[in-house]
Amino acid sequence: MTQEELFKKLIAHSKEYGFVYQSSEIYDGLSAVYDYGQNGVELKNNIRQYWWDAMTRLHENIVGLDSAIFMHPQTWVASGHVGAFNDPLIDNRDSKKRYRADILIEEWIAKQEEKIEKEVAKASKRFGDSFDESMFRQTNPRVKEVQAKIDVVNARMIKALDANDLAEVKRIIEDCEIVCPISGSRNWTDVRQFNLMFDTKLGSVSDEANTIYLRPETAQGIFVNFLNVQKTSRLKIPFGIAQVGKAFRNEIVARQFIFRMREFEQMEMQFFVRPGEEMKWYEYWKEKRMQWHRAMGFGDDKYRFHKHEKLAHYANAAADIEFNFPFGFKEVEGIHSRTDFDLLNHQKHSGKKLQYFDPETNESYVPYVVETSIGLDRTFLMVLSAAYAEEKIAKEDGGEDERVVLRIPPALAPVKLAVFPLVKKDGLPEKARAIMNDLQVDFACQYEEKDSIGKRYRRHDAIGTPFCITIDHQTTEDDTVTIRYRDTMLQERVQATRLREIMEDKVSIRKMLMSIR
Ligand code: GAP
Repeated sequence: MTQEELFKKLIAHSKEYGFVYQSSEIYDGLSAVYDYGQNGVELKNNIRQYWWDAMTRLHENIVGLDSAIFMHPQTWVASGHVGAFNDPLIDNRDSKKRYRADILIEEWIAKQEEKIEKEVAKASKRFGDSFDESMFRQTNPRVKEVQAKIDVVNARMIKALDANDLAEVKRIIEDCEIVCPISGSRNWTDVRQFNLMFDTKLGSVSDEANTIYLRPETAQGIFVNFLNVQKTSRLKIPFGIAQVGKAFRNEIVARQFIFRMREFEQMEMQFFVRPGEEMKWYEYWKEKRMQWHRAMGFGDDKYRFHKHEKLAHYANAAADIEFNFPFGFKEVEGIHSRTDFDLLNHQKHSGKKLQYFDPETNESYVPYVVETSIGLDRTFLMVLSAAYAEEKIAKEDGGEDERVVLRIPPALAPVKLAVFPLVKKDGLPEKARAIMNDLQVDFACQYEEKDSIGKRYRRHDAIGTPFCITIDHQTTEDDTVTIRYRDTMLQERVQATRLREIMEDKVSIRKMLMSIR
């Protein structure tokens, strides 16, 4: 199965098993807007909880906030979003399709990098154990030639975007002979800037003065509340404020399912530090956040850092944590050193001082900020992509069966425990109900008595339920039940009274948190 086929299956599976639906589907959907079904909402809540606890419980100096989506319009002038939150877009006149010009160039660069990787793989095969990869990359004429092309184009793109030189961006597309993936033609329009913020009107009078924006990031709610929180919590620098909430962006190219949406959720934390200490904290948070990802257990090789060459208007250093999605390594989280850009600008535009008095140095200053910003929906897609597996399994009659299993970390699984009476008689349903009643306050449980046990296992494998408990005739004699483990499919007989203790150990977020504290 190709990665593309895998991704299509994942999307279909998400819908079939109540994880993600297209928004307003009965009206043919709304592009790049999605709804979360009964299992999706549980998974999303669990990821959110894991993040929230990792931030606010594991760090005494990080507190939470829930600020409004609507903010004073000056907020977005001060933050630079009104002036600079733009994407360069370009249309292909033949296909009438619109693209982000910088992404077209980045995709061209990625293709060149693939060429290099192919050369390296070929040579590695040819030379075997004696292959010196780094020497090969430095000396092979073909690799050097392609790398030089990449470097030139990359440098030109960064310079053109920094200078807002849209004519040069178009020239790069022409010079690289980039064609429209739909029409195959190079019949491009000029490149234009497009602001990504959605606006609407506040109150009943619809004039320019009442224009407000749907926030494109949650961070600004934290910045404008920085002194409120600091004063009321009496936190001392360094300290952080964490927030989870909706953000909205009128993305030009919304593709890849819930990877790039127009309405999405962010989990952001702004860490306020002494000026000059931001690089130390930037490195600290890069490491901490990578630990958080790795503790989910999908494999360390699924992640990598990507250092930003082109920095956002507010940053002096930035890196992404990328995950290997079915469509390649892509950003899940950004760690940004935002300097004092935001606070200084809010100070300027609001006329209110946003300074911190440091009792250790006896100085007042505008703190610097290191931000960690992760998309909840993107993390959800990461978990689903890493968890989805199709497997051949042996049947009892000696034949073969297939199962789709979501190997979601138990602590994040939408349903932790499914409870099955073996048959619908002989007092087994009553016993199963009693066990379920005892456990459902602490764990997300589901009761199922329809179909064979095998079919019930398949249904729960498909939504990632880590444990299935079967109540059979032996249960009525000695109060034991079988636990069937999702990943190994092994079964174990245990006393029913031990279930709570067993579950607590296996499904609590605690274990993941303990591993990263
Ligand atoms: N406050 C900084 C900020 O918003 P960003 O890199 O633009 O930085 C942070 O966004 C994270 O938000 C990204 O790493 C990604 O996970 C998520 N994100 C951004 N745009 C998104 C979109 N259109 N759809 C889904 N997630 C998105």
